[in-house]
Amino acid sequence: MNDANAGFPGAFPTVRPRRLRTTPAMRRMVAEHRLHPADLILPAFVREGIDQPVPIGSMPGVVQHSRDSLRKAAAEAAAAGVAGIMLFGVPEEAKKDAVGSPGTDPDGILQQALRDVRAEVGDDLVVMSDLCLDEVVDHGHCGVLDAAGRVDNDATLARYAEMAVVQAEAGAHVLGPSGMMDGQVGYVRRALDAAGHRDVALLAYTAKYASAFYGPFREAVNSSLKGDRKTYQQDPANGREALRELELDLAEGADMVMVKPGLPYLDVLCRVADAVTVPVAAYQISGEYAMVEAAAERGWLDRDRTIDETLTAFKRAGADMILTYWATEVAQRYGRA
Ligand code: PBG
Repeated sequence: MNDANAGFPGAFPTVRPRRLRTTPAMRRMVAEHRLHPADLILPAFVREGIDQPVPIGSMPGVVQHSRDSLRKAAAEAAAAGVAGIMLFGVPEEAKKDAVGSPGTDPDGILQQALRDVRAEVGDDLVVMSDLCLDEVVDHGHCGVLDAAGRVDNDATLARYAEMAVVQAEAGAHVLGPSGMMDGQVGYVRRALDAAGHRDVALLAYTAKYASAFYGPFREAVNSSLKGDRKTYQQDPANGREALRELELDLAEGADMVMVKPGLPYLDVLCRVADAVTVPVAAYQISGEYAMVEAAAERGWLDRDRTIDETLTAFKRAGADMILTYWATEVAQRYGRA
């Protein structure tokens, strides 16, 4: 606008985006994305040997479930219209060993929980399980170690294959290979098919970064890890590399792909979502949950608005599904409509 036009009515805008923001009904009508219970997946922890849920200090509101309380949480999630549940098992400390025996024991805690949850909700929830060794090994890494103490990729694949079949037999609809071993999707797919589990789907942790935001999860699963996962999880500096992992996972037969963590990696989520024809998930992880809860507890953030904004950001970036510890609460808030 130049000086000659100053003060003339024509100098004011005729195009006004604010017209579409005038009332709640108007904003609702033109919203490009909205939250729906069917987009949400609840990650849940179940711990062996407890009869009451144990609170996780760094994740206020989240617990290590007993088998009973997990069944109730699954039923509650299903009633709220949540799409699925992703189970993590926490075995008794003394049962962890170098190869993760509780992971292939048909009576390991994760397998018991899968059977419990399927008995409780049948097919009303998509029942998923974490396919990784870190919760069941005494050294806390996502794979088995070689003689030099390094994570042995191919020996780990063999363990994942056995775990996959045991989890499928326990009733999982979907398995989530989360260990970032090369070739894990293809190897597990072949093992499942060979055992007759052709309908069990794989949600590939495609781009999983070596993140500080996993901190509270380590408490949630009583992790034994010393050191870090930088030789197998991706470097936070790398975005393009996620597309390489994506190509491999798709070629190996991934049914769905996931980016994790969530908010710090929205750019990666957006690139992945633009590149694929399979469903895309985002995992809003423990540290993201903890940050919002901690700030809200101090009155520094409006808790519910912040939660909704983070979840909407995932939708905007291209996620079809969101794993979030707030799944049931948010589903209850928005309803099935
Ligand atoms: C590994 C696994 C991790 C999470 C899910 N699966 C931890 C890790 O990679 O260190 C993190 C989930 C969260 O932080 O909420 N099995």
